[in-house]
Amino acid sequence: RPPQGLRKPADIFEDERKNSQGADLSDAETVTRIKQLRPTALPDVEPITAGQATGALEAVNSPTTGDQIAAVTVSDSETISRAIAHASTWDAPVSERARVLRHAAELYEANLGPIFTALAKEAGKTWLDAIGELREAVDFLRYYATQAERDRPVPRGVFAAISPWNFPLAIFTGQISAALAAGNGVLAKPAEQTPVIAAIAVRLLHEAGVPRSALQLLPGPGQTVGAALTHDPRIAGVVFTGSTETAKLIQASMAERLAPGAPLIAETGGLNAMIVDSTALPEQAVRDIVASAFQSAGQRCSALRCLYVQEDIAPSLIEMIKGAMDELRIGDPWDLSTDIGPVIDTDALATIQNHIGQAENEGRVLHRLHVPERGTFAAPTLISVSGISDLDREIFGPVLHVATFKSSDIHQVIADINNSGYGLTFGLHTRIDSRVQEIADGVHAGNIYVNRNQIGAVVGSQPFGGEGLSGTGPKAGGPLYLPRFARPQSATKTG
Ligand code: SER
Repeated sequence: RPPQGLRKPADIFEDERKNSQGADLSDAETVTRIKQLRPTALPDVEPITAGQATGALEAVNSPTTGDQIAAVTVSDSETISRAIAHASTWDAPVSERARVLRHAAELYEANLGPIFTALAKEAGKTWLDAIGELREAVDFLRYYATQAERDRPVPRGVFAAISPWNFPLAIFTGQISAALAAGNGVLAKPAEQTPVIAAIAVRLLHEAGVPRSALQLLPGPGQTVGAALTHDPRIAGVVFTGSTETAKLIQASMAERLAPGAPLIAETGGLNAMIVDSTALPEQAVRDIVASAFQSAGQRCSALRCLYVQEDIAPSLIEMIKGAMDELRIGDPWDLSTDIGPVIDTDALATIQNHIGQAENEGRVLHRLHVPERGTFAAPTLISVSGISDLDREIFGPVLHVATFKSSDIHQVIADINNSGYGLTFGLHTRIDSRVQEIADGVHAGNIYVNRNQIGAVVGSQPFGGEGLSGTGPKAGGPLYLPRFARPQSATKTG
């Protein structure tokens, strides 16, 4: 629902489809059922290709314990070449493609146990996050199936889909399902940290009826697998979610080898801000600040990084934030009471810890929680800054920076936020309706959230994606996304 004071967009794709409701953690029966689930062992992963697959074996480690939980065969150059040679578009009628994608959504939902096990063990996802992730994945499958039936897109060819570890099921599925719904083939390169969940998804898509030549899985690093795909002139386009730096490398590589019109659909980082003015409801604002900054251990590109609080309410609001942080439970994501799991790996942890360490040396740490010593747990931390310009890059973890502002300086605050160059999400807590539209118009951000948290965009109602350093658009889960995977074509017949 567009917040009061905001215009309703004219181009929301109205359809009869219903989004998944997911599992309700406030329902006692659901919780009992979840508690009965036992985590299963994770399967080892090999490239899933139409040709033969070979490559070196590597360990997949749990971020929670550091232990090896599976092994992955990393696609070697022969495997990649064979996969590209075997790749083809999905030449079935659009009604059949839509049926298969909807069936895949049912299979995802029916395989909740193995999917949640992999999300928890491999990606460190809590139950709340895993439920949201499964919902988003099935919503993408059904949304693009429905849109393809309506738009009857003409496929471009074979896409490379390069996906991130922070939404190893939802974004992985979103990229693939849009490309497939439009009739393209897909060569999917999952993040190195999360090949198991990707392999589970591909097996379910194949079981639903997606042909093996139209969807192949090539696990391995960006430097080898990703680069081989983005360099190959047989690739019709690239869909990528990850860092802004990698998106720029892909763009350069595509410019060298691919046709000028080959699309790059990139969702990248964010340096996301929220403004809380003195008319905000403090309890509501604190709930939304804590969710936006710390849920998913802050590993969402949508997450709140820099909070601006109007100076007259800042002392009390910051005390309330500290109190709410103290209530967060950090630990094993499989435990239903856990709010925050580990960050993805030791490299991520080291970057976050360095950032916190530097703030500590400068005396700017306002609050920090204790975390388990084993595994890659980053301490949720509150750091004082003078403004967003103190942050030179996105810190992808549970770290919230807070600044104060005078009411008369609000336009300068918005200018500073825009000067970061990113433009993904923005949050605002205010009770002044005229301020809502004024600020929404002034802020360069793809997704604006008023009087609520700024994470968890919902397919179909909150199309997700940013501008500037945050991505190329179009927004995932919105009406303009699928057309980027299709050939724009006008045909005329006379007589
Ligand atoms: N779509 C996710 C969110 O809105 C981020 O990728 O939180």
